[in-house]
Amino acid sequence: MMVTVLTGCGQEADQGARQSAQAAQDELLLQRASERLIADFSKELKTELLSALNRGGPATAVEVCHSLAPQIAAGYSGKGISIVRVTNRPRNADNLAGPEQMAILTQFADTAEGYRPSIAAWSDDDSGKAYRFYKPIRIMELCIKCHGDKTTFGPELTGILNEKYPDDSAVGYRPGELRGMFVVSIRWPEGRMAAEQLADRSP
Ligand code: HEC
Repeated sequence: MMVTVLTGCGQEADQGARQSAQAAQDELLLQRASERLIADFSKELKTELLSALNRGGPATAVEVCHSLAPQIAAGYSGKGISIVRVTNRPRNADNLAGPEQMAILTQFADTAEGYRPSIAAWSDDDSGKAYRFYKPIRIMELCIKCHGDKTTFGPELTGILNEKYPDDSAVGYRPGELRGMFVVSIRWPEGRMAAEQLADRSP
């Protein structure tokens, strides 16, 4: 996109405007890349879950839910991009949202203002500058099998969950409820190339 800056204020103002136009373009790229990554992740998770449930029942499917996220994230390690799922009611305690994440998650909870599709923010700390993109995860019919009413679970699933997740808080959900959120983190500018590849990927 061409941005024409009409200003009589000389070079400095011109440069400032160019920089903010560039920053806006970068943010658009980062948002597109984040949305793409989350969409691909969700699609793969659903496909894998369904085929695992058909193939091997809940035992196999539980393993999919456990290992798929780290597998997908591993594909981007070293390229400056990470993706995780966090929640206020974890099955796996490793997925408990931190204090800052909890504050974002609260904003996705159903409120009088309604439903926010996503939140983007920049962070700048000891590990460098990063773009963060948060998107809510909601419960669908498929998820109820393992995150719904415990009394509807078969003995096999109940056994595995009790064994692997004795402190499970991720049950009792109903369709539409907020389950947690995706957190995409793109280190900047290190993650630019991987972000461009993601943004160009066709749906
Ligand atoms: C076959 C059972 C099963 C189904 C179906 C299932 N999950 Fe899970 N889910 C799990 C297991 C097991 C974990 C714990 C994974 C781990 O150890 O990291 C989990 C973890 C999660 C987490 C990470 C947070 C946490 O509590 O540890 C989210 C978010 C999540 N599931 C969302 C969903 C959504 C959304 C669906 C529907 C699309 C879904 N799950 C369907 C079994 C399932």
